[in-house]
Order: sequence, then C-alpha cells, then structure tokens
Amino acid sequence: MDPSALSGVHIGPLQEGERVTLADMKGHRHSLVLEAGKSFHTTKGALSHDEIIAGPEGVVVRTVGGAEFTVFRPLLHEYTVGMPREAAVIYPKDAAQILMWADIFPGARVLEAGVGSGALSLYLLRAIGPTGHLHSYERRPEFAEVAQRNVADFLGAEHPGWQVSIGDLVTSICDEPVDRAILDMLRPWDCIDAVAERLVPGGVLCCYVTTTTQLGRVADQLRAHGGFTEPDLSETTVRQWHAEGLAIRPGHGTSAHTGFLVMSRRMAPGVMAPLKKRRPAPGAYGADYHGPLPRSVAPEHLAANRARDEDDSEQIAPAVRKALRRPR
Ligand SMILES: C[S@@+](CC[C@H](N)C(=O)[O-])C[C@H]1O[C@@H](n2cnc3c(N)ncnc32)[C@H](O)[C@@H]1O
Repeated sequence: MDPSALSGVHIGPLQEGERVTLADMKGHRHSLVLEAGKSFHTTKGALSHDEIIAGPEGVVVRTVGGAEFTVFRPLLHEYTVGMPREAAVIYPKDAAQILMWADIFPGARVLEAGVGSGALSLYLLRAIGPTGHLHSYERRPEFAEVAQRNVADFLGAEHPGWQVSIGDLVTSICDEPVDRAILDMLRPWDCIDAVAERLVPGGVLCCYVTTTTQLGRVADQLRAHGGFTEPDLSETTVRQWHAEGLAIRPGHGTSAHTGFLVMSRRMAPGVMAPLKKRRPAPGAYGADYHGPLPRSVAPEHLAANRARDEDDSEQIAPAVRKALRRPR
C-alpha cells in the first residue's frame, strides 16, 4: 500500500478539484479549489485557474495589475486553522504535543471526544495511518457533520478506520479496547470512569482543557479514580522570531493562551497507582474545595487542612471587621 495513502498529501502537478493557497507578499492568504475555466478576482485584476492547473506547486502567478501570489497546496496545519468550523479547534502547537506525548502510532486504536470541527481527528487519522482505527464521539450532530465534511475534503476519500458516533461519550461509548484516548470537551472528568474501562493497561489518556479550574478538576478526578498514574500537566507556548540583518527580535504576533494538556497512563486492572508521599499544600483541599478527593488525601490531612482554614479565617476576621469600620 502507498505509505502516504489517506494522509491528504498530494504530490505532482496540480489537478482540477484540488485546494491551493494563494499568498501575497503582505501575508494575506486565499484558499481556492481549482476549476477549469474559472477565475480568482483581486482588486488588481483576475487570475485564471487554468494558469495553475497542471503546473507545479511553488510557482508565482501575476494578475494584469501586477499583484503576485505564491501557489502551494495547504499543509495540514494550515488547512485546520482555515477550514469551516462550528466549535473551536485544537491549534497545531497543541496537536503536535498531543501526538508526541499521547504516543499516537501507526495502527493505533484511538478514542476521541468530542469531534468538534474535526481538526484533531485529521491529525490523529494521519498519525494512525491507513491501518489504525479512530472512534470519534460527538454529542452535537451538526458539529459532527461539519467535521466529517472537513475530514473528507482534506483526505479526498473516506478513511476506512474512522468511525463517528453521535451521542454523549458516557452513554454511547462502545465496548472496545483502545490504546489511546483523547478528550477535548468541557467536562472530561465526567468521562474518566467510562474511558478507564476501555483503555488498555499502559494506554495513554490525554485531556485538553482551556481553563485552570478544568485543569485542577481533571487532575484531582484522575487521582481520585486511582487507576491512573499521577497526571503530568503542561502548557505549550511558541514564540515566533523575526530575523532580518541585525534586526533579530521576537515577532510581534505572540500566540495567546490556548489550553493545557493533562497526560496520564492507565494502570493494570485492579492495580492502584502508588500514593503520593507528600502531604497536600496547606489550603489545597480546604473548606472552599468541593471537587473530587485524591486517594492520597487521608482523612486526618483533610481535617487538619480544614481546621487550618478555619483558624486563618478566625484570625483574618477581626482585622477585616476593623478595616470595614474605619471611616472612608
Ligand atoms: C472544543 S470542541 C472539540 C474540537 C476538536 N477537538 C477539534 O480539534 O476540532 C468540543 C466538542 O466536544 C463536544 N462534547 C462535549 N462534551 C461531550 C461529551 N460528553 N460527549 C461527546 N461530545 C462532547 C462538544 O459538543 C464540542 O463539539
């Protein structure tokens, strides 16, 4: 089998029906599907698709008004940030980390939820290759439809190993073993038990979350479950650079916050992960904490934690009361 089959990568002369990206020198990009006899219109005149069809990538085409555009097929990461979307997509920098740290391999059996716009599905399908199996769950049918269109549009064919199920992951999850599980949703902690039952021993779970409160909640849920290793929590920042002669400095476009990754491995059936030896930090599980309790938090630690909280508020309260009585 052609090793690049179902990767969405095409080589050789550009064909009618293929998507290309036209980029001008100001960095503006235009995506179009090549059609014989059709034109691309700009303020500086039109460009005929026929000039591009049957030629190589990497050419420069010019309008009569002198506007120049480079022509390339979009790379996967370019396609995912420009494709139609209903839900926010996982950005390339995070997708790259997921593929490495979740150890996605050719032939893997992967579970994914939710599908959203299908960006992560595309990355996963490429990494598992034609022999892998990706089962993607999405509770909103209209989102799944967009994702299916995006994936088919990029791959140019149906991937025989891609299955999309509509429904909430917890209630619609199939009883099949999976090697890797990736959760990108609002409440991944609700799905930990269901995923744990299907994830093979040593399998990797990766949760992508966007807020710190989600990060803490999912980490504590994994600790409370017990059948997962201590989660590894990370955020990836990428800084662009500008280098022109002696003007070498960070680029102006700083990428904003996207999300956090929570990585953990499944223990063997019936085996609990060893407990952390360290006591939780003061206040970590104090009176204001209402989330899942890690197994390492012994009842006496919890009592001490909460008692310390109460002591603190006793000490703080008189000072606060005094400050409030002071005339303004
Ligand atoms: C941020 S989007 C996923 C984006 C996707 N990873 C991508 O790169 O395009 C989150 C999706 O999860 C879906 N979702 C949330 N909770 C779910 C659940 N329990 N089961 C299935 N899908 C769920 C939402 O409907 C939404 O489409």
